[in-house]
Amino acid sequence: MEQLLITGGNGFLGSHLAEGLHQAGYRIKILARNRGSDTPAPEFETVWGDIRDEAVVDHAVRGVDRVIHTVSNFRKGGSDKDQAHGINVEGTKVVLEAVRRHKVKQYVHCSTIGVHGSVLEIPATETTAFNPGDIYQQTKLEAEELVWEFTRHHCLTTTVIRPISLIGPGDTRMLKLFRMIKKGRFIKFGPCNAYFQPAYIDDVVEGFRLCLDNPKAFGEVFIIGGDEYVPLETLFTIIAEELQVKPPAIRIPLTPMLWAASLCETICVPLGIEPPLHRRRMSFFQNNRAFSIAKAKKRLDYRPRINLRESIRRTIVWYEQEGWL
Ligand SMILES: NC(=O)c1ccc[n+]([C@@H]2O[C@H](COP(=O)([O-])OP(=O)(O)OC[C@H]3O[C@@H](n4cnc5c(N)ncnc54)[C@H](OP(=O)(O)O)[C@@H]3O)[C@@H](O)[C@H]2O)c1
Repeated sequence: MEQLLITGGNGFLGSHLAEGLHQAGYRIKILARNRGSDTPAPEFETVWGDIRDEAVVDHAVRGVDRVIHTVSNFRKGGSDKDQAHGINVEGTKVVLEAVRRHKVKQYVHCSTIGVHGSVLEIPATETTAFNPGDIYQQTKLEAEELVWEFTRHHCLTTTVIRPISLIGPGDTRMLKLFRMIKKGRFIKFGPCNAYFQPAYIDDVVEGFRLCLDNPKAFGEVFIIGGDEYVPLETLFTIIAEELQVKPPAIRIPLTPMLWAASLCETICVPLGIEPPLHRRRMSFFQNNRAFSIAKAKKRLDYRPRINLRESIRRTIVWYEQEGWL
């Protein structure tokens, strides 16, 4: 039985990958930062530590067959440049060095559709021009470039996956939106005609599984997610329908909020405070996220099973079970 290392194995995607790929027959090792209360799942081997720590990463990579690297400072919207670069780029470098040293059979790099930023070409594909819009997206792109450079120099077997916006049990990023819509307090900024495309977490895990030990995935980039995109206005209506409340009706212009977000970041980031409002959060209302998954369908026979409405429904059920809605 092959052993997989999943970095960030206690994160949203990482924990679903660990569970799903364990069920698919892999032995799982995870590398994770202990948040204090975390206890290791008995079915997984766990290495605690920071992705930037060479000794920790070397220990984690030693002896595994394949590595899936998901660690990122994703949730830290207002994080400073050094932190984003340190985790997303330098951290990736530390993992790549260990992958090379230990002659790992395959390196699967978790990137993001965010490297394309807000897309003009609809739907965008793996070859659409890069257009990263913030420090997170810029450093994710830098990491991808580093991965390919390293792959060429050291003849690694690499696959890059760019997941679309994840949704499903375990997600907390969309919770605020669902809550506000339920309470009738959600305010729409701007016209809300930008596209949004959710990717149900189990479908994304399946996309990763299909890339493992699959020569059709070696040296390739895949966009993985659901295949429906809708304008934000429609997304808000579907969420409201599934919550059985009225769709949000209040709308205010976007531009003043962008100024406020920028101001919040300028004040909070130097003080080490997570800004309550930041440009990345506001970019939700501006950025077009509409992607084609045709390549994954064709080469990997990838077929997402959970449609957009059902993704939302299942996410609501989970929020309710947690007592959050
Ligand atoms: N969620 C999405 O919509 C989405 C969409 C496209 C791509 N992605 C990509 O998917 C991956 C996983 O995202 P996610 O949504 O699962 O986010 P997440 O829940 O925040 O997971 C990221 C994981 O990385 C860990 N991490 C951060 N800094 C670390 C460090 N210095 N050392 C060790 N571990 C560290 C986090 O641990 P802590 O909790 O201790 O910080 C967390 O477990 C990321 O690469 C992200 O770019 C996500």
